[in-house]
Amino acid sequence: MKITRAIGYAVLLMIAGCQSNHSVVSSSASKQAGDIEWLYWLIFWICLVVFVLVIAFFARASAKSYVGGEQMAPVLPIDEERDRPAKIGISIAVGITIVTLFVILALSVAKGKAVAGLTSNNPITVQVIGHQWWWEFRYPNPQADLTVTTANELHLPVGKPIVVLTASRDVIHSFWLPNIQGKRDLLPGYQSAFSFQVDKPAIYHGQCAEFCGEQHAHMGFEMVAEQPDQFEHWLQQQRKSSSPPQEATAIRGREVFLTHGCVLCHTIRGTDAVSKAGPDLTHLASRRMIAAATLSNAPGSLGGWITDPQRLKPGARMPAHLLDPDDLQALISYLRSLQ
Ligand code: CUA
Repeated sequence: MKITRAIGYAVLLMIAGCQSNHSVVSSSASKQAGDIEWLYWLIFWICLVVFVLVIAFFARASAKSYVGGEQMAPVLPIDEERDRPAKIGISIAVGITIVTLFVILALSVAKGKAVAGLTSNNPITVQVIGHQWWWEFRYPNPQADLTVTTANELHLPVGKPIVVLTASRDVIHSFWLPNIQGKRDLLPGYQSAFSFQVDKPAIYHGQCAEFCGEQHAHMGFEMVAEQPDQFEHWLQQQRKSSSPPQEATAIRGREVFLTHGCVLCHTIRGTDAVSKAGPDLTHLASRRMIAAATLSNAPGSLGGWITDPQRLKPGARMPAHLLDPDDLQALISYLRSLQ
């Protein structure tokens, strides 16, 4: 019963994996992921053929030399003449194995080069910075005030070469967008770069792929791949400072934000909140998810996250804030106004 249930869950997980954009073995959305997927299936089929052959030969040998009942297994005398075909067969099998392994090695090197070899004179550059347990994304610009900083939601244009520069603020994390490119470690004190190009517009799920502490499993992000003009529009929007709230509740909410612990960790450009310890909230309301793709960006989850983040993500760096209910409502309505 337990086994049937486990198989059922595994099948459900596989179906779920096929539907969301988070899979290495289906719906690759870049040439790089396509190369990785091709290599995966090639090795998979080779291994499957080897497995079936090994089991078939094992079954045949077992059936042939089966000794039943009370019989003792006969001691076979060494017979060079009789053993020769078997020796030739084994030599051929070893030869085929060595050739196959070298073919896989050569293809791995070739595909590895192809995956890493995207060059372009005019790429879009994004800095990805890992934090326990969220993602910081920066779109650098030579003019400092045009640099965009956001969190947990990466926007990229389709059909353009992308260069990702990696860094980490604390421990080793790993940036992984299964449909787009292989994993890349983010190491503290060390910057590396890798590139890819997204071909299909969609929302893809990304995940930290290196164990980095208590909330490693909840260190996700979303990647929105969109047409270049939509991406440009988004970038322009993100460059702006927050617009001052108009409505009375939201104005009060801004006061709550600026007079409580929030300012110690967060930035909202256009206000006095400039701390960099937590995610930049300047355009929080434009994001689909909060808490590193753990919760949807809705008033309820926002309220729950502010009041008791430790219940939702134990160990998260965000402390609990027990606000007066009216203050909490005001704060939520202010955060919801940050488009
Ligand atoms: Cu960050 Cu695992």
